[in-house]
Parts: sequence; structure tokens; C-alpha cells
Amino acid sequence: QKNVGILAMEIYFPPTCIQQEMMEAHDGASKGKYTIGLGQDCMGFCTEVEDVISMSLTAVSSLLEKYAIDPKKVGRLEVGSETVIDKSKSIKTFLMQIFEKCGNTDIEGVDSTNACYGGTAALFNCVNWVERASWDGRYGLVVCTDSAVYAEGPARPTGGAAAIAMLIGPDAPIVFESKIRASHMAHIYDFYKPILDSEYPVVDGKLSQTCYLVALDSCYKILCNKYEKLEGNQFSIADAAYFVFHSPYNKLVQKSFARLFFNDFTRNASSIDESAKQKLAPFSSLSHDESYQSRDLEKNYQRNIVNHIKTSQQVAKPLYDEKVQPTTLIPKQVGNMYTASLYAAFASLLHNKHNTLAGQRVVLFSYGSGSTATMFSLKLNEGQHPFSLSNIASVMNVKEKLESRNELTPEKFVEIMKLMEHRYGAKDFVTSKDCSLLAPGTYYLTEVDSKYRRFYAKK
Ligand code: ACO
Repeated sequence: QKNVGILAMEIYFPPTCIQQEMMEAHDGASKGKYTIGLGQDCMGFCTEVEDVISMSLTAVSSLLEKYAIDPKKVGRLEVGSETVIDKSKSIKTFLMQIFEKCGNTDIEGVDSTNACYGGTAALFNCVNWVERASWDGRYGLVVCTDSAVYAEGPARPTGGAAAIAMLIGPDAPIVFESKIRASHMAHIYDFYKPILDSEYPVVDGKLSQTCYLVALDSCYKILCNKYEKLEGNQFSIADAAYFVFHSPYNKLVQKSFARLFFNDFTRNASSIDESAKQKLAPFSSLSHDESYQSRDLEKNYQRNIVNHIKTSQQVAKPLYDEKVQPTTLIPKQVGNMYTASLYAAFASLLHNKHNTLAGQRVVLFSYGSGSTATMFSLKLNEGQHPFSLSNIASVMNVKEKLESRNELTPEKFVEIMKLMEHRYGAKDFVTSKDCSLLAPGTYYLTEVDSKYRRFYAKK
């Protein structure tokens, strides 16, 4: 198949959110810690009537409706999520309600799980399916859905929630450059969910930052090597118009781009001008850092990162504004959406730049703790209605969705988190069924019966 990639997208995030500035004050954090320190503006979250299943039901049904896709034409459905509602029954099977109604039960695929990476695994599965012999000519559909909630403490302001649906097929406006791809996978305890009766992860925040940046470095180096073998010339940040990162919080995205910039500096790439070279010269001895292989050297590595990353961040700022800033809107406004975070950043780019993206290359970096990471490349073209960049931007309607949200108080947020802790894994309850804040067409949870079966309604 030619030009396999993303034909259409829809994003859903809850209409309920909290301002980071208010949370800062409520938590007794120093002023600016969440807004400047983490770089976050606002955080979205599910109330008791929403969860990853309702959000994905909403995203899928809205995508099918708005792009006028016949549900019978979907042949594969893959879900990426790390939010466990059931240890056996996949989220995909809940989504079958939409397709069964239309007489389509012939749909391959189940869920993929590994922290924030499951969505990328699901996406690759669908793209591979369309590219291979087992493809039956129908669409692939990928759903990334998560509700990111943390226990009280420094990680709590890095929560968020969303579902994203992506339609996959040939002749797409967003095409995979499948040869330009590099992964880094390792066994690390940086963020994991061993406590099965709690929705909260066990997280070593500092270690997770380091692991993220080590994986980023490794993927970038491998990707550059592969590109150079393939194309015969050097790859640098000048070769992509935009860089999109998995976005737990914006500060890490700023650091990530600075890290790529520093990599280009150590590789003596043409993307780095003379004045930047001079400013980074004091750090050039750090260039061939072989420390990733050794756990003992990890601390050292982190110190090196801290020292040079501030300088790299300053020097890379103009390029960051050009190549990364347009991707940051939704992650800054909604927070970490785990599997959906990277694709929400990409959706922000489509929202901001859909008019000028045709012909451009965009590089994406997906990271899931534990750890799994892949850097990959997309090539964009305008496409044909309804599968055009401008129509995708208009369907997603990001500005209005963000502006129509309701800001709740920190007290209300804490109260909702307490209720959700109580409800996690519980049976035999009905929700308030209060869908007054939800937009028409939104699915919501009404009941969990005595056999733990979940019931949803559509507003
Ligand atoms: N004004 C401005 N900046 C401030 C202020 C202030 N008043 N106070 C602190 N800061 C800065 C710090 O200097 C630091 O910035 P720097 O890294 O550029 O130096 C930043 O705010 C964060 O503050 P810290 O004290 O370093 O970190 P904290 O203890 O608040 O924890 C962390 C932050 C680790 C990100 C935590 O929120 C966390 O564990 N989150 C979940 C894990 C995570 O998201 N990991 C990322 C990859 S894995 C994944 O996606 C889940």
C-alpha cells in the first residue's frame, strides 16, 4: 500500500479542569512551581461520570460520525491505555458496542499496555496491518485513552485525561516514513503500577526524567545513523519542521528539545550556528557519554544533564519557539494524558499549523516508563476531503473544546479524587448520572452492578 498513515483524528478531553496556579496555592507550593517550574497551565480530569471507556466511546463515535465513516468499513481496532479497569476484558471489547450495533463483529485487535507507550504500539500495529498481506482493504482504528491521576504529592499536578481516535489507511495526509524509526527499550523501575487496588502509580519522578532523556538520546542517535545510511547525508534538527514529544509536563519537553540540540552540537551538525557552538563549547567534553550502559554512572549522567541542559535550553530557545512551541497547547492545558499525550501534542500542531504543514516532515518521540521508547517520522500532505489536514483541524475543534471547559476549585478536585479512590475496583453503585457539564454526544458512566458490569449512556 502507498502512503499509509493517519487519515483522520478526533480528540476528547473532559470538560472539567483546574488551573495550575490555583492548585499551587492550594498545595502550599511556591508561586510559579507548577506554572513555570513544570510549565503547565491547567489540568483536565474525569469526574465520577467519566472514565477511559466513556472517553474512548465518545472519541470513536464522534470520529465515525464527523468523517462519515461506515462502522462496517473498520477491520482493525487497537487500543493503547495504561488505565486498568479490568485485568482481562479489554477496552476494545467495550468499544465493540458501537460496531456490533451496525452488524460488524469482524474486527481484529485488542489492547496494548506499557505506561504511556501503549498508544504508539497500537498505532504501529494498525499501520503494519495495512502495509501487510493480511490487510482486507478496510480501515484501521487506533484509540489512546487514559486518566492520569497521582496520589497527593509532587506528581499530582502532572495528571490529565483524554482519549484520541485515529483512522488508519492508505493515501493518508499524515504518512509514516517507516524506515526512519528508532527504539530504546530497557528494564527500569521508574514508574509502575504494582498496587492493583489503587489507580495511582509508584513513581520515582527524578529517575523517570533521567530515563526519558537517556531514551531520547539513544533513539535520536540511532535514528540519525539509520537516516545517514539511507540518505547518505547527515540528519539534524534542521531536517524536520517540527518535533513532537511525549509530554508529561512542558518543562521536560523544553529539556528534550535542548537535548536534541546538544546532540547536534556534539555531532558537529550544520543545524548549530557559530554563536551557539561557542556557548556550548565548555560542555563539549561531555560529548561521547558512554554512561547510559552503567547504572552506577547514572547519577553522574544526571548531573551532566543538569549542568549543560540549562545552557542548551537557552541557546536552543529560538529554535524551540519555531519547531516545538506549536505542539504544546493541549498538553499544557490538559496535562499528561499518558498514551494520548504525544498525539495530543501532534493534534496541537495540526490545530496551530494545518495551513502550512503540507510537504513538511515531523519527528515524534514516544516514551513509556518501564521503559519503552520510539522516535519516528511522519511526512505530511494536504490530503483530500474529508481526510485533509484542514478538515482534521476543523473536526477536532480544539479551541472551542478548551474554551468551553469548566474550572473547578482545588477543594472540589480533592473531593472528586477521594470519591474516585473509593470507587476504584468497587461494585454495586450508581453514579450521580449528572451529565450537565458534558457536551451532547458524550458517553458517561451510569452504573456498576453487583457483578462489576459497567453501564454507559450517551448524552
Ligand atoms: N518557580 C519556578 N520554578 C520552580 C519553582 C518556582 N517557584 N519551584 C520549583 N521550580 C522548578 C524546579 O527548579 C524544577 O525545574 P528544573 O528541573 O528546570 O530545575 C521544576 O520546577 C520541578 O521542581 P522539582 O522540585 O525538581 O521537582 P518536583 O519534586 O516538584 O517533582 C516531578 C517534579 C518529578 C516531575 C513530579 O511532578 C513527578 O514525579 N511527576 C510524575 C513523573 C513524570 O511525569 N515523569 C516524566 C516521564 S515518565 C511519565 O510520563 C509518567
